[in-house]
Amino acid sequence: MEKKRAQWGSKLGFILAAAGSAVGLGNIWKFPGRAFEGGGGAFLLIYLLIVIFLGVPLMMTELSIGRASQANIVGAFHKLGHKGFAWVGWIGVLGAFVITCYYSHVGGWVLRYVFGYLTEAPAIYAEPLGYFYSMLGANADGTTAIPWVALLFAAIFMALNAVIIIRGVESGVERFNKVGMPALFLLLLILLVRAVTLPGSEEGLRYMLSIDWSKVSFQTVLSALGQAFYSLSIGMAILITYGSYLSKQENISKNSFIICGMDTLVAVIAGFIVVPAVFATLGRDQVGKGGGFAFVSLARMFQQMPGGRVFAVLFYLLLLFAALTSCISLVESIVAFLTERFSWKRKGATIGVCTVMFLIGCLYTCSQAAIPLKGIWIDAANGVTYPAFCDFMEYFTDRLMIPICALGCCIFVGWVWKPESAIAEIERCGVRFRFAGIYRVLVKYVAPLAIMTILVMSLATGTTLS
Ligand code: PHE
Repeated sequence: MEKKRAQWGSKLGFILAAAGSAVGLGNIWKFPGRAFEGGGGAFLLIYLLIVIFLGVPLMMTELSIGRASQANIVGAFHKLGHKGFAWVGWIGVLGAFVITCYYSHVGGWVLRYVFGYLTEAPAIYAEPLGYFYSMLGANADGTTAIPWVALLFAAIFMALNAVIIIRGVESGVERFNKVGMPALFLLLLILLVRAVTLPGSEEGLRYMLSIDWSKVSFQTVLSALGQAFYSLSIGMAILITYGSYLSKQENISKNSFIICGMDTLVAVIAGFIVVPAVFATLGRDQVGKGGGFAFVSLARMFQQMPGGRVFAVLFYLLLLFAALTSCISLVESIVAFLTERFSWKRKGATIGVCTVMFLIGCLYTCSQAAIPLKGIWIDAANGVTYPAFCDFMEYFTDRLMIPICALGCCIFVGWVWKPESAIAEIERCGVRFRFAGIYRVLVKYVAPLAIMTILVMSLATGTTLS
């Protein structure tokens, strides 16, 4: 006898969980830097177009595959009678696995910062960049050590994830999101006001609002696409898993608009906080410092705010929530797959997979400043630098696995399962799907062609790591 499948406890529960999956480090840690590199306003515009024309339909597509099949990401294709497409699910699980390895570690850094601001804020203010790198194992004299502190916090972060996952979908994942998401939103608005009123922030604001096409290249489009899919949690078949817990009364199309809208709003607000804040405090040449962004750039802003320390603690706490809810969705879809496919027990599967992912992620944290592994990975003769190996984890998932999985879903729904089946699933809640015509064209032609072109071009032009 098959057990009854878990379901979201309420409508809001689902929206918040899916939005919780979408809103995460990607919005706050990655988006502002990408927007800056992509020329500010121009990047924003391209990003918005991608969200509307590819993001929303793809989200609907994944949710309807999940709800129609009531199965995990690989099982879904089997259940719908098209075993040949199970590879899409496999890529999804693998992508989720690789992302979790590093994502959980960055989550650990956030946790470290919560404690950092509680206990030693002046040290952060004095040397934001130095503080960040010393957490990652860089000594002041240029040597490096194993970043035990960061690793410890990453382990705690991963353990938190595991506990919530073991408690299950409704009581764990859902309850968690109901408080964290609205609070995050509120705090972002407060920080936005602070950022744009900092003396010297106008230049950053102008940068984010002006469209400079000379900065836009094919790389920009690639970066926007990778970022949009990553940020919306598309192309890792996570939404297939979440869709499978969704009740038949839910309106998939409306929910997809809401979730994409919330996610994009948070990303854009974060961009308008971080970029102007950096221009105003650290100077514009500091903006592109990649991962250090959310950790380094905001320090001066908090320093200059009345009650900045309190805001800092709140901010990193909420970033922690956002990271946790995203990480939970990643782990949940891996665990759902393992328990259903191999009949593993939920608890054992969670503990096992989380341990492995944590261990692999240690390479990521160590690589940021660290040399202990340098001998293994640096191949100076061939010009391969050590950080490139770790960026590779991000590159591999953002630029290859996510688009390939998304493409697989489009081809599956567009040409095999047929848009009509997805539309029927979307309309199952009893409300007519007004954009059915456009959806059909998007999922059948526009989305696959766009993703394919981008994939081919990126392979052909030998995209460099960004
Ligand atoms: N969307 C999340 C973020 O923006 C990351 C994520 C990617 C979560 C893929 C789940 C799946 O941080």
